[in-house]
Amino acid sequence: MAGPLGAWEACYELDIEDIDLQHHFFFNLINRLARELLQTDNVQHRGALINELNAYAKFHFISEENMMRKSAYPHFLHHQELHVELIEQLSTRGSMLLLPDVQGAVESIITFLGEWFLQHTREVDRQFARYLLEAPIEDSRW
Ligand SMILES: [Fe+2]
Repeated sequence: MAGPLGAWEACYELDIEDIDLQHHFFFNLINRLARELLQTDNVQHRGALINELNAYAKFHFISEENMMRKSAYPHFLHHQELHVELIEQLSTRGSMLLLPDVQGAVESIITFLGEWFLQHTREVDRQFARYLLEAPIEDSRW
């Protein structure tokens, strides 16, 4: 069963293998999280799902940010700020899922995550990928 993001598309690829592998995993995780959030009425299960997503998002952001540092990416600070904002949004929206009546909050976080992922990866991460691919130095940049 697909999730709100549908199936992975080749146009999501940025041609940086490490980033693409992590994005694909992140994409599948959002789809699974959305399916399970819609199916469960267990508060602890919802909390565990949000924790899982939060942990993977943090890992992925640190990984991307390390690549930005190594390659002296000029828009690093702005990009990092967008990552921080997503973690804050996850925390705020995730805490709403711990309330008893969550139908609206579940739908809202699923929509938010889907839109954030597609917008961020296809626009903001793509800018970084272009920078990496066009950088003149070929050796050990990341
Ligand atoms: Fe990013």
